[in-house]
Amino acid sequence: MKKLSIVIIAALALMATTARAAEAKDNFLKHCKSCHGPEGKGDTTLGQKFKVRDYSDPKVQDTLKDEDIFKAIKEGNEKNHMKPMADKMTDGEIKALVTHLRGLKNK
Ligand code: HEC
Repeated sequence: MKKLSIVIIAALALMATTARAAEAKDNFLKHCKSCHGPEGKGDTTLGQKFKVRDYSDPKVQDTLKDEDIFKAIKEGNEKNHMKPMADKMTDGEIKALVTHLRGLKNK
């Protein structure tokens, strides 16, 4: 019985993580794609206009700290034309989006 509960808890945790990841992808496609592109490469008209960097490039990812990514999303950046997401996403959702952005890096 104990084993079964552990399996159930593990399955639920996995489902929650998967749901969060799917939600982060949706948020990225909804709020970030116009400039950063669906894969974070910045290969969009706006992305080229604003000279966004290619976040699939490990060298570009290495220049970013998780705290900076979190801050850029939460507070936005006027210079970069990024709107703050503080009123659109919870801190947990922003964290999941940071993880999503990290996952766009080419291995
Ligand atoms: C209107 C265009 C636009 C949108 C929409 C946008 N960004 Fe940006 N973003 C930029 C520009 C321009 C830069 C500066 C150049 C660069 O670092 O690529 C930037 C920079 C960043 C950075 C680097 C911040 C740093 O400290 O160097 C991150 C991380 C980022 N964006 C993530 C996101 C995420 C996640 C979203 C969606 C919530 C988003 N951006 C939406 C234009 C945009």
